[in-house]
Amino acid sequence: MKPDTILAQAGSRRDASTGAVSMPIHASATFQHPALGQSTGFDYSRTGNPTRQALEQTLADYEGGAGALAFSSGLAAIDAVLRLFSSGDAFVVTEDMYGGTFRLFENFGVQRGLRFVCVDTSDTDAVARAFCSSKAKALFVELPTNPLLKVADLPALAQCAKAHNALFIVDNTFLTPAACRPLDIGADITVYSATKYLCGHNDVLAGIVVAKTAEHNERLAYIQNATGAVLGAFESWLLLRSLKTLALRLARHEKNALVVAEFLRNHPKIHNLHYPGLSSDPGYAILGKQSSSFGGMISFETESRAKAEHILSSLKVFMFAESLGGAESLVTFPLMQTHAAYDAETLARLGITDRLLRLSIGLEDAGDLMEDLAAVL
Ligand SMILES: Cc1ncc(COP(=O)(O)O)c(C=O)c1O
Repeated sequence: MKPDTILAQAGSRRDASTGAVSMPIHASATFQHPALGQSTGFDYSRTGNPTRQALEQTLADYEGGAGALAFSSGLAAIDAVLRLFSSGDAFVVTEDMYGGTFRLFENFGVQRGLRFVCVDTSDTDAVARAFCSSKAKALFVELPTNPLLKVADLPALAQCAKAHNALFIVDNTFLTPAACRPLDIGADITVYSATKYLCGHNDVLAGIVVAKTAEHNERLAYIQNATGAVLGAFESWLLLRSLKTLALRLARHEKNALVVAEFLRNHPKIHNLHYPGLSSDPGYAILGKQSSSFGGMISFETESRAKAEHILSSLKVFMFAESLGGAESLVTFPLMQTHAAYDAETLARLGITDRLLRLSIGLEDAGDLMEDLAAVL
């Protein structure tokens, strides 16, 4: 089946006993054994649950992976991937990634003996140099980065990781497999905060890992069962329901984002606008080659912190809240919210200032979004 068909029928044809078109919510912690040594295929919901399995199978099929696993949050999913590695192993990672991922790496990855080399992954030469100096076992890339929306060249990075015998892991939260398919262009593993676009309604916290090979999927399934941060049956069902409209929603997010970005580009009070869908953006050409959408995320600087605070408290359509990828447009202050885990020196070097705001463009009327911004600017 083509990708759009897989999405439209997410969870269908999976309950042969009833023929349910919508996958039922199997709210059962445990499953009755027919006899000693026999199983229905399900024993205990941490190990496997039919509703969660329908979600995992849909995502594996959609992305062309050997398997997918659903976790209770994006960070739980990333933590499981870290557990594939052993003390002493080094990672080359995106320097301006989501602050919670940075906190996980810096606090708990380092505690387990892992090393992290932070580089600008939009600079392929810098990644190659980091590999040579660190002998890293993995490359972890966010695309585009958060909140500066820098664009990495995935096929070039895949070659680089391969040349160093390293695992290539892509956090594809911002673009989703409806737009960008890292496993098709050389990545080994994709991770998602499914809380964002995959869910799309700001009502579920979830994480997904998709592995290209059966070997990695089996190891990750073992880790998932052993550590236990699985997604519940109800949340799995909500995600299955959300996946049916993923491609449609993403197209509308992008359409609205382009209208808003064009408006901001011409506004005298906006500085350092970042949206890779503008032809003037440094990431435009490269993202256009590896993604069918530029996504719905925009960031920019205002003239002062006071102005940024005024915008946060005065917008009427955008809500001041910390997330992205949902139907509702949100505005975030990365310095004190998503990136609070970074030290002041790193924030200053990266350009995450007290004037920087991040917009998650929702599904509303684009005119309402522009008028809202125009009024506060
Ligand atoms: C790119 C990215 N990866 C991972 C995460 C973590 O996901 P969660 O909040 O679902 O744990 C986030 C959260 O904002 C994110 O933006």
